Amino acid sequence: MLTRPGGAGGAGGNPRCPAGVHEDAREAGMRVAVFNTKRYDRTFFEAGNADHGHDLVFLEPRLTRETAALAAGFPAVCAFVNDTLDAATLRALAGQGTRLIALRCAGFNHVDLVAARELGLTVVRVPAYSPHAVAEHTVGLMLALNRKIPRAVARVRDGNFSLDGLLGFDLHGRTVGVVGTGQIGTVVARILRGFGCRVLAHDPVPNPACEALGARYVALPELLAAADIVTLHCPLLPETRHLIDAETLGRMRPGVMLLNTSRGALLDTRAVIGALKDGSLGYLGLDVYEEEAGLFFEDRSDRVLQDDVFARLLTFPNVLITGHQAFFTREALTGIAETTLANIAAIERGEPCANAVAAPRAGV
Ligand code: NAI
Repeated sequence: MLTRPGGAGGAGGNPRCPAGVHEDAREAGMRVAVFNTKRYDRTFFEAGNADHGHDLVFLEPRLTRETAALAAGFPAVCAFVNDTLDAATLRALAGQGTRLIALRCAGFNHVDLVAARELGLTVVRVPAYSPHAVAEHTVGLMLALNRKIPRAVARVRDGNFSLDGLLGFDLHGRTVGVVGTGQIGTVVARILRGFGCRVLAHDPVPNPACEALGARYVALPELLAAADIVTLHCPLLPETRHLIDAETLGRMRPGVMLLNTSRGALLDTRAVIGALKDGSLGYLGLDVYEEEAGLFFEDRSDRVLQDDVFARLLTFPNVLITGHQAFFTREALTGIAETTLANIAAIERGEPCANAVAAPRAGV
């Protein structure tokens, strides 16, 4: 459960470092409790740590209020997208000496940032790592759904070479609506332009790089009314929670394809199931799910699935779900490890970290 590769590195003193972090670092190198680690995390973090010499201790359990005790005395904790970083967990960590939360993911919607600020915890993240990984997986889901590739492969394996039910459509000439045109959405737009798609975009902050690709920015209702395919690449924020609900589903074209590789709660899953049942939603591709935290990233194949909503999703022939693997490429894992370890080193040296995440001030 608990493994330490060794390799504590020294660090010079610097008075600008947040209280607690640097003092501990100077004595024993930056000791980092890396929660929720799989074999692949360890591989990429150990490789990246050759440049830093942090004292990494790999822990298998997810971070929760209960497992926080494993990080007693660690100035830094490294956590992933499905770890619990609510006020109670942060209080437990802060109370036993942790001063830095290093997220090895881009999203931070699972962190109680107000509690972190009140507890004096610095939170850093990995804002960008191979946007190609997520964009390419999204397009992979699109193609697999359209051409019914999993079904076709299963048929051929079964000696069934019938084409009935496998009819797809040309992506060329179709209209795709990209919601959120940051790093990932813009790569998706670029790939789809390569297919010959017309790209409509919606983002409160239009991206000139996306416009240069020929994407046209429109209001969300216009995008939803015109798109044959809608793909979500915006973060989960209070204003984007259930962005796709019964009302917005009702604005979409009949038989539309919907993809969500961003965050599960962008969709009201029950409303989506309703649209799948009445046929108005033609295809659904997901890499994320509202209640994925206790479900994904583990082998549960010998257990009874307790989530009835997720179980219902699995019954539709026009739904494809992957278990939050869009980021999972060598390039992305290398980038995640390098940025996380560099973030920790910056804090260790007392330097301002560009990847720090601040809690919104009241009224902002
Ligand atoms: P980014 O920060 O570069 O881009 C997000 C874009 O969404 C920004 O341009 C922002 O202005 C826009 N946005 C904000 N509010 C919006 C709204 N109401 N409507 C439309 N657009 C809005 O983020 P990036 O790197 O492109 O990542 C996008 C999302 O992908 C992340 O927030 C994360 O949730 C998800 N993600 C999923 C991964 C996976 O493995 N499935 C891995 C990495 C990220």
